[in-house]
Amino acid sequence: MLSIIKSAALMGIDSYPVEVEVDLSSGLPSFDIVGLPDSAVKESRERVRTAIRNSGFAFPVKRITVNLAPADTKKEGASFDLPIALGILAATELFPAAATGNSLITGELSLDGSVRPVNGVLPMIHDAWKRGVTTCFVPADNAEEAALVNGMTVYPVHNIKEIAAHFSGGKQILPYEKNQDFFPHGEDEQEGLDFAHVKGQENAKRAMEIAAAGGHNILLIGPPGSGKTMLAKRLPTILPDLSFEESIEITKIYSVAGLLKEKNALVHNRPFRSPHHTISPSALTGGGRIPKPGEISLSHHGVLFLDELPEFQRNALEVMRQPLEDGKVTISRVNGTLTFPSDFMLVAAMNPCPCGYLGNSEKCHCSTSEIMKYHRKISGPLLDRIDLMIEMPAVAYEDLESTSPAENSATIKERVVRAHKIQLERFKNEGIFFNAQMNAAQIEAYCPLSPKEKELLRSAFEKMELSARAYHKILKIARTAADLAGAEQITLPHLLEVLQYRSLDRKYLL
Ligand SMILES: Nc1ncnc2c1ncn2[C@@H]1O[C@H](COP(=O)(O)OP(=O)(O)OP(=O)(O)O)[C@@H](O)[C@H]1O
Ligand SMILES: [Mg+2]
Repeated sequence: MLSIIKSAALMGIDSYPVEVEVDLSSGLPSFDIVGLPDSAVKESRERVRTAIRNSGFAFPVKRITVNLAPADTKKEGASFDLPIALGILAATELFPAAATGNSLITGELSLDGSVRPVNGVLPMIHDAWKRGVTTCFVPADNAEEAALVNGMTVYPVHNIKEIAAHFSGGKQILPYEKNQDFFPHGEDEQEGLDFAHVKGQENAKRAMEIAAAGGHNILLIGPPGSGKTMLAKRLPTILPDLSFEESIEITKIYSVAGLLKEKNALVHNRPFRSPHHTISPSALTGGGRIPKPGEISLSHHGVLFLDELPEFQRNALEVMRQPLEDGKVTISRVNGTLTFPSDFMLVAAMNPCPCGYLGNSEKCHCSTSEIMKYHRKISGPLLDRIDLMIEMPAVAYEDLESTSPAENSATIKERVVRAHKIQLERFKNEGIFFNAQMNAAQIEAYCPLSPKEKELLRSAFEKMELSARAYHKILKIARTAADLAGAEQITLPHLLEVLQYRSLDRKYLL
């Protein structure tokens, strides 16, 4: 007897269909799985055998062959347990082989026959839905996640017995009723964080506003305790809300990484990741035997915050150069490559010198060579990918003491959102969302300068010895400054403001 169950496997954050074919034939009892299974899939045999017995069914004493088609891609993980078990039960004619029809089935089994959640349910279901599949059976703990795909009927499965009864005409499983619709909100994780708490530092706050509005990378430089970490943590409170498509894309990444919080399936907030400086290059970019997205992908459509930048391993920073440019990271594997999206905004913080108090002659005794060595820890090419650099001086006592309320995040966010809308309109046929993503041709098209502005830029370029990349960045940031002001054209004030964010180029690009 042959039975075929429809399932799916993951490739990066995408999914492809897999047919689980089970054949029972007479001969010496055996149980083989073919179709490039990895060790977790091979171990499936033991789980399936025990789970079927412990659910009160007889395990067939036959020659059992399971084929995972297509056979030319390596199958990983334990998500084929449930389809294999059902295939065996169907092949023993416990229920008609046609009963499962076109439904997608996935799930890991416990030895007692209960169904455990698996990673990557959203990409699997989303992809299946695009192929025309309209029903799926998923572990009950993944039901909310699967139900995010509108138009898909989701059956939550708790154990083998339940699903076997469903297919053999016994007690039916009721389709899952989703209990959340998409609405972006930023409350839960950002509770209590607000720009209003940061006293003084008006320049840095303005730079953060520009960075948030245009999706620009930013580096904060200042002595200990000047509020760098404080400010960076508050950045998500002024970022534009996620669109539904962005949210789905992030959720797929978190689903594959196994980081979705139960019952809160869709990611509502822009991610904010702040890995420790001891992180390894592969934890940043992603990889591993079963490839998992790294920090740069977990920051997709959000913020990657690297605090104490010079403390990071140099090769960890090097591996980010390409993803920073391309918005995706490619991981090489034995059997081909796979790509994870990684379009994030980089926010970095550092002290100006090893002791942190450069410029304060009483406190700082760092020698020039020590300072140069400290700066050299960050490679020029990485610094070159940072659009805005801002120096944050120590906070003045008057600012700390001041009780006059600073602008709050909600007010700043309003301006950011307005500027973002202008960009969405401008780029609606370009496939990009932020000024920071413009390529050279787009910069030429959207950042025209009149002779006066050109003259200013020319002299600044010569005096400040800027690189070609810096030139393009200045135009992009100036575009954002103009958008924040609601201006059609980039004018002198925008350029002058933006030039000060590049004035540190020579000081730090030693
Ligand atoms: N501008 C500010 N307004 C109000 N409080 C501040 C400000 N700057 C710093 N503080 C206070 O100092 C603490 C330390 O600030 P923060 O951690 O942001 O400093 P930092 O610049 O990151 O320093 P380091 O270089 O040591 O990491 C904050 O938790 C806050 O209590
Ligand atoms: Mg800090």
